[in-house]
Amino acid sequence: MKVTVVGAGAVGASCAEYIAIKNFASEVVLVDIKPKFAEGKAMDLMQTASLNGFDTQIIGSTNDYSKTAGSDIAVITSGIPRKPGMTREELIGINAGIVQSVAKEVVNTSPNVILIIVSNPMDTMTYLVHRTTELPKNKIIGMGGALDSARFKYRLAEALQCPSSDIDGMVIGGHSDKGMVPLTRLATRNSVRVSEFLSEERLERVLEDTKVGGATLTSMLGTSAWYAPGAAVSALVQSIACNQRKVFPCSSFLDGEYDLYDLCLGVPVILGKNGIEEIIQINLTDQEIDQLRSSAEGVKATNSLLKN
Ligand code: 2OP
Repeated sequence: MKVTVVGAGAVGASCAEYIAIKNFASEVVLVDIKPKFAEGKAMDLMQTASLNGFDTQIIGSTNDYSKTAGSDIAVITSGIPRKPGMTREELIGINAGIVQSVAKEVVNTSPNVILIIVSNPMDTMTYLVHRTTELPKNKIIGMGGALDSARFKYRLAEALQCPSSDIDGMVIGGHSDKGMVPLTRLATRNSVRVSEFLSEERLERVLEDTKVGGATLTSMLGTSAWYAPGAAVSALVQSIACNQRKVFPCSSFLDGEYDLYDLCLGVPVILGKNGIEEIIQINLTDQEIDQLRSSAEGVKATNSLLKN
């Protein structure tokens, strides 16, 4: 199992670290445009191998995609992250060109690759990759929902004063402050609906805190978060690499599912050895359907900027 991670910044490096620590991949290739940067990060990470007990070989490459040849999975984190006060959508001008050229390079050297897109605005970048590469739709996956769901569980655990591992919950829709649709109705604490424990007002606060989860951290850190994004990507990579067939909300190309067409949006999928094995269509309430539709409209409005 060979995994490429393009972009050796904080998210890419943390993703490579989690993949290595979980010890399921034989090789991780970190690629970056900045000379020697990916090589340096790879060396630093490899010096943790004896301490953390992993056998994964991590190598770095300064923009030489021949080193990524034959990758089974590639993660694209390239581009610039948000600064405090910025929306993810504002990054489109710079990131679109970068993501498009990186995706082409990766697919050229690894034609059977499964791509995971992390760069923002993520749903639009995933759509761009769908429009500009020959890969089938099951092999183009946007990572946002797994991260937003982890943040949702964190906020629910905080409200319930319990461990996050006791919580099950999912956020669908777009990976944006306005577009997320946390499915509070279906969230549970060890099979008991969270609404049994929390008032409507408290749940509303959980919802709002979840939606601005990325922005909150950006204002605290001065740049976009990396531990939870890296961990979320590594969970998707593992589900594919080990054919775990776990369910995650992922940005997927929709062609009629949820009555939505021609966009990539976060919906629950089964992730296995072929990438998206199945899009799960759950029964949503009218209100949830309305929220998903308005999220889709927001993503489509951002997609339309790609033409410029
Ligand atoms: C986030 O922290 C990276 O978009 C990402 O939400």
